Amino acid sequence: MNQLKISVLAGDGIGQEVVPGALSVLEAVRELTGSFVLKTVDYPWSCEWYAHHGEMMPSDGLTRLEDSDAILLGAVGFPGVPDHVSLRGLLIPIRQAFQQYANVRPIQLWPGVTGALVGKGPEDLDILCIRENTEGEYSGSGGVIEVAGLGRVATQVSVFTEPGIERIARYAMEQASRRGGMVASATKSNALQYTAVLWDDVVLRVARDFPEVTVTSYHVDALAARFVSAPESLDVVVGSNLFGDILTDLGAALQGSLGLAASANLNPERRFPSMFEPVHGSAPDIAGRGVANPVGAIWSAAMMLDHLGEQEAAGLVTKSLRSTIGAGIRTPDMGGSASTGDVVDAVVGGLVGAD
Ligand code: NAD
Ligand code: IPM
Ligand code: MN
Repeated sequence: MNQLKISVLAGDGIGQEVVPGALSVLEAVRELTGSFVLKTVDYPWSCEWYAHHGEMMPSDGLTRLEDSDAILLGAVGFPGVPDHVSLRGLLIPIRQAFQQYANVRPIQLWPGVTGALVGKGPEDLDILCIRENTEGEYSGSGGVIEVAGLGRVATQVSVFTEPGIERIARYAMEQASRRGGMVASATKSNALQYTAVLWDDVVLRVARDFPEVTVTSYHVDALAARFVSAPESLDVVVGSNLFGDILTDLGAALQGSLGLAASANLNPERRFPSMFEPVHGSAPDIAGRGVANPVGAIWSAAMMLDHLGEQEAAGLVTKSLRSTIGAGIRTPDMGGSASTGDVVDAVVGGLVGAD
C-alpha cells in the first residue's frame, strides 16, 4: 500500500478555503480506490503566523517539510505583510531549497467552458507550460543603494546558469516528446543580450538530443499574443521564471478563470519533496466568503497523486472536475452561483461510478 505523507500549507486568504476542499476530495478518492494511505501534517505558516512570530516559518521549517512525500499549498500573502516579505519568507524559499525547478502548469479549455477566447474550443487550447522555478528573474540577487543626485537605485539581478537552463529545457523536451512533439521557447534575446541569448543557445543545444521534437523560439511578447490568437499552434511552452509566471495567468484567463489553473512545482529527481498549488493567490478581495473556486487546488492535488504514483486516483479526480464544471456547477468567478463547498461536494459525488 502506497503510504503518502503530505505536508499541508493552506496559507492565507482563500488558501484556507480551497485546501480543505482539495483534502476532502483526496480523502474521498482514497476511500474509493483504497490504493493508498494518506497522512497529512498541517503547518499554520502564513501571514497570520507572521503577525505572532515575526517570520513566515520557523528557522527549521524547511527541515520539517523535507521528510514529506509532497507539499500541498494554498496561497501565501495577505494585506498587512508586504508581499515580498511573505513570499520571500515562505513560498519562494521552498521552491528554491527543494530544487523544484520544473513548474508545470497545464492550460486547458474544458468541454462546456467558454473561456476568454471567442470561437475556440477544447481542441484549440491544450498547452503545457513548463516554467523555470528556481533562478532567472527570481534569483533574489540585488539591492538598493543611495546614489548622490539620483536617490535610491535598485537592481534586481537575473541569474541564468547553464545547468539551470539545461535541466528545464530537457524537462520540457521530454514532456513534448510524450505529447504533441513541439516546444515553444520564450525568449527576449532582442533586448536581453546576455541572459536570453544564453537561454536560446542552451535550449537549441538540448534540442539536438530530441530529434523528434520541433523547437521554436518566440520573443515572449509575440508569444503572449500567440496564446490569444493561435493557441492551437502551441503544445509545450518553456520559459523563464517571470515569463512563465505571466504567461500562466494569461493562460488561466483563457481557460475561463484564474481559479481553475493548477500547478506542480517538481523536483524531477525526487531528491526533495515536490509542491502542488493552484496558480492563483490568496484573493483577499473574496476571502472569507466561501465563494473561492476550488478547482485549481483540487486539480493540483490530482497532479500530486499522479506524481506519487496514484494515476488511477488522479484520473478519477480530473474526470470528476471536468464533468462538474461541464455540468455548470461553478463558482461566481465563472459566472455561476455555486459555493466552494458546492463544487467540492459535486466533485466528490462525481468520483463515484467514474471508470
Ligand atoms: P490573486 O490570484 O490572489 O487574485 C487575482 C484575482 O483573481 C482576484 O480578483 C481574485 O478574487 C481572483 N481569484 C483568484 N483566485 C480565485 C479563485 N480560486 N476563485 C475565484 N476568484 C479567484 O492575485 P493577487 O490579487 O495579485 O494577489 C493577492 C495575494 O496573493 C498577494 O499577496 C500575492 O502576492 C499573493 N499571491 C500568492 C500566490 C501563491 O501563493 N502561489 C500566487 C499569486 C499571488
Ligand atoms: C505564482 C505566484 C508567485 C510567483 C508569487 C506569489 C511569488 O504569482 O505562483 O504564480 O510569481 O511565482
Ligand atoms: Mn503568478
